[in-house]
Parts: sequence; C-alpha cells; structure tokens
Amino acid sequence: MTITSYFAKDLFQGQTIFITGGSSGINLGIARNFAAVGANLGIVGRSQAKLAAAADELRALGAQVSTHSADVRDYAALETAMARCREALGPIQTLICGAAGNFPCAAEQISPNGFKAVIDIDLLGTFHACRAAFAQLRETRGNILFISAGQAFMPYAFQAHVGAAKAGIDQMMQNLALEWGQFGIRCNSIAPGPIEGTEGVRRLVPEGGADRLKKMIPLGRFGTPDDIGQLSVFLASPLASYMTGARVVADGGQNLPGSGVWTQLIMAEMQ
Ligand code: HXC
Ligand code: NAP
Repeated sequence: MTITSYFAKDLFQGQTIFITGGSSGINLGIARNFAAVGANLGIVGRSQAKLAAAADELRALGAQVSTHSADVRDYAALETAMARCREALGPIQTLICGAAGNFPCAAEQISPNGFKAVIDIDLLGTFHACRAAFAQLRETRGNILFISAGQAFMPYAFQAHVGAAKAGIDQMMQNLALEWGQFGIRCNSIAPGPIEGTEGVRRLVPEGGADRLKKMIPLGRFGTPDDIGQLSVFLASPLASYMTGARVVADGGQNLPGSGVWTQLIMAEMQ
C-alpha cells in the first residue's frame, strides 16, 4: 500500500507515535499516515494476530514498529507497554487514544455490564493511556489526540453507552489541555464521521442503509481512514502548535442535519 501524503516526508522523522487500538480500522489508517512522514509506531491492542499484521504493513512503509498486546482497561499492562515502547523506539511524542468498543443496543436493554464495558474501554482506557504516557509526553513536550465521535455531541438511538463515553473523553481532553498546557502538552480530539470499510460502520450502519445515509451527508460520501490520518498528522505537528483543547469534527458535515435518518434506519433494523 502507498500513502499520498501532503506533508514533508520527514515531518515526524524518528519520532515515536503510540496508538491504542492501532491494529485496525481508523487507528491503523492514522498509523500509516504517520509512517509516511517518517514516524515510528508503538501500537496496542488485545489480538496478537491483528498487531502482527498491522506491524507488517507499517514496516513496509519504512517505520520501526513496537507491538504490545494489552487491554487498555488494565493500567499496569499499559504502563509496561509504554516502558517497552520507549526502550525500543524512544519517548512518546504523540499519544493517540483510539481503542474503543461499540455495539448498538436500546438503552433499556443494555446490561449494567455492557454499559460498563464501553465506559471502561473508551473512557477509563483513555485516561489510563494519558496517565501512563504523561512522564514521556512531559519530556518531549508532546501531544495527545483523542478519538471521539459524533455521539459525543449529538444523541444517536441505541448509543447511550457510547455517547456517555465519548462525551466524557472530550471533556477530559479539555481538562488535560487546561492542566498540562504548562508542560507544553497539547490535547485535541477528532470526531470522525462514518469511515468506509471499518468495524464501526459494519456494526452501526444497517444493511442496505449506506446509500441513504450518504445522501444526507453534505459531502455525499463516507470518509476514509486517510481523511482521519492526514488530519491527525496535521494536529500532532508544529503546523497546529497553538491548538489545544479543540474538538475537530471530520464528518463531511454528517452531523449537521442531525441523527434522524440514522435513527430511523437502526430502529427499523433492531426492532
Ligand atoms: C448488547 C452486548 C453486546 C451487544 C456485548 N454486550 N455485545 N450487549 N448487545 N451486541 C454485553 C455483554 O452481554 C456483556 O454484558 C458486556 O457487554 C461485556 O461483553 P464482553 O463480550 O464480555 O466484553 P468484552 O470481551 O470486553 O468486549 C467488549 C465489546 C466488544 C465492546 C463488547 O464488542 C469489543 O471488544 N469491541 C471492540 C471492537 C469494536 O467495537 N469496534 C468498533 C468501534 S466503532 P453481560 O451483562 O452479559 O455480562 C465506535 C464508534 C463508531 O466506537 C461510530 C460509527 C459511525
Ligand atoms: P476497530 O477497527 O474495531 O478499532 C478499535 C481498535 O481498538 C482495535 O484495534 C481493537 O483491537 C482495539 N481495542 C478494542 N478494545 C480494546 C481494549 N479493551 N484494549 C486494547 N485495545 C482494544 O474500529 P474503528 O471503527 O476503526 O474505530 C476506531 C476508533 O474510531 C474508535 O475510537 C471509534 O470509536 C472511532 N470512530 C469510528 C468511526 C467509524 O466510522 N468507524 C466513527 C467515529 C468514531 P483488539 O480488538 O485486538 O483489541
């Protein structure tokens, strides 16, 4: 695979980017775009097989890659992963908190454990990553990108657990921007819209509903992992050196007309 990058090829030369959930989907797309500008990657996920396949892809783009099988719900495991990544690649310049879980479920049917699973992976897991990376980020005067979603600011049916988790992530992003600015650490969120070919779209876009949804998106298409990857490189780079505490929505305008069409589609499918 080749990446068309609009940035200088050495923008992140030799720098370490650490991505939770970096073994697939949008986060792997982000990793590829950093590899294309010279970065080395530390990636975390639970599945060893997915990590190995992702590492092969990133090495083919010229990156050094350090893989770590860990569950973001386990703080000690993340601390160990970051320490090992540092030994292999050097201190973290950019942390990307991308690990997440999602399933559509009516609020009255979500079990307490189901709600907790999503909060623990998305929100607590994001805090774990930030807390564990803090010392390295202070040293590099690095930055953090939080992967949010439209659910953080727009109610979507069957997404009560996800909306709570992603809104919490965005609020935490602003808190950390406020507290850690003094260390030179910038914090920003990206809220992607539906991204073609990803697990999120497989789980959330009802069979046969994609075309109707695309018609409601002002730019008329789903996004690509590269759309989010290029934005991530920009936000993490010196091009965005005065940006912190911002949520950047990259959804082709999908949220502008609201979540009504998606809600109709998912309700028809789930009921
Ligand atoms: C209702 C469900 C469920 C479902 C699981 N649960 N799936 N409830 N409907 N479809 C409940 C279980 O019954 C259990 O509760 C609890 O959730 C925990 O389930 P486990 O399987 O034990 O959890 P775990 O192994 O930790 O897996 C977490 C997971 C899983 C979130 C449930 O789906 C996962 O690992 N997902 C990771 C990949 C993923 O989701 N990618 C998409 C990200 S997209 P009980 O009470 O029975 O014990 C995204 C935004 C997309 O985040 C936006 C697109 C536009
Ligand atoms: P994905 O491919 O399933 O990505 C999720 C990643 O997180 C996987 O690599 C997964 O690997 C890892 N992960 C999940 N639970 C984990 C845990 N407990 N510990 C460690 N790693 C874990 O899904 P995606 O659709 O590309 O979504 C990526 C991100 O974008 C998520 O934050 C999602 O909320 C956000 N998003 C997606 C869309 C979309 O259209 N897809 C839209 C808006 C926002 P393992 O399963 O191997 O652990």
